Amino acid sequence: MDTLTIRDEILRLKKEKDVCILAHSYQSKAITEIADFTGDSYQLSVMASKTEAKTVIMCGVRFMAETVKILSPEKTVILSSPIAGCPMAEQMSKEYIENIKKSYPDYAVVAYINTTAELKTICDVCVTSASAVKIVKNIPNDKILFIPDCNLGSFVAKNVPEKTFKLLHGGCPIHGKITGEEARVAKRLHPKAKFLVHPECVPQVVAQADFIGSTTAIIDYAKASDAKEFIIGTEIAIAEYLQFECPDKKFYPLSSKLICPDMKATTLVDVYNILKGDGGEEILLDDETISKARACIDKMIELGG
Ligand code: 13P
Ligand code: SF4
Repeated sequence: MDTLTIRDEILRLKKEKDVCILAHSYQSKAITEIADFTGDSYQLSVMASKTEAKTVIMCGVRFMAETVKILSPEKTVILSSPIAGCPMAEQMSKEYIENIKKSYPDYAVVAYINTTAELKTICDVCVTSASAVKIVKNIPNDKILFIPDCNLGSFVAKNVPEKTFKLLHGGCPIHGKITGEEARVAKRLHPKAKFLVHPECVPQVVAQADFIGSTTAIIDYAKASDAKEFIIGTEIAIAEYLQFECPDKKFYPLSSKLICPDMKATTLVDVYNILKGDGGEEILLDDETISKARACIDKMIELGG
């Protein structure tokens, strides 16, 4: 079957079987084109709870599929590619954080949504990159243990100077490997470009940005801006998407290293096979994990997420 036929078959089968396909905006264009909804982590978690379909295929990474399952336990949730994990989400085990918590008993434990369902069960509140600053401001506690991403944590700490932060050595291996020097070189090469950066980048990169935000915030900023050139400091899919959407503007990826292999693991063939009843991985979580992890996500929604 050629690509167009597979695409048409996917569109036909998902309608016939009433399956909702969610895709993170770092997925390839072939996948976002067949999705019912594309967005950032926060938007996908909201969509997950709103869709009527009984089966959801999550084209993204494992923690995202787990989030869908936590918010919709009655649905069948399938992770598009069983090998697609997020290295940051799997960096810190529940046991490791339980131990750290003993040294910081009066701190609120704030977990980036890029964490496993198991780890969320022992955290107080979740945040997404889009909501982190607002939620940390709204937490009654003024002492924050922020896990796992120290780069996002530093960004939040800078924006909430009235609180005390304990950060750990975790983070995204993709965003985190871009150096301040690489950012300076990109800015020198494109002196007229606005520099838009995801807060998972190191502080030396973030400090040089004209705008810092989640994937959706970066997209919205670039579309609305009068500027004609942009350096995009996040996964390469965002620069590609923006170039397609705004052909009169120029988008330069900050680095060709900004490719997340886990986000690129899903293919059209994977989605087709799942719709035919083969492949993917159904996410199964026990009731206790679901209810405790849900409390952490509900707290995010309560605090303004
Ligand atoms: P967003 O929350 O901006 O979608 O980011 C998710 C992610 O995995 C970034 O690396
Ligand atoms: Fe995880 Fe980084 Fe990939 Fe996002 S880009 S899924 S944080 S490894």
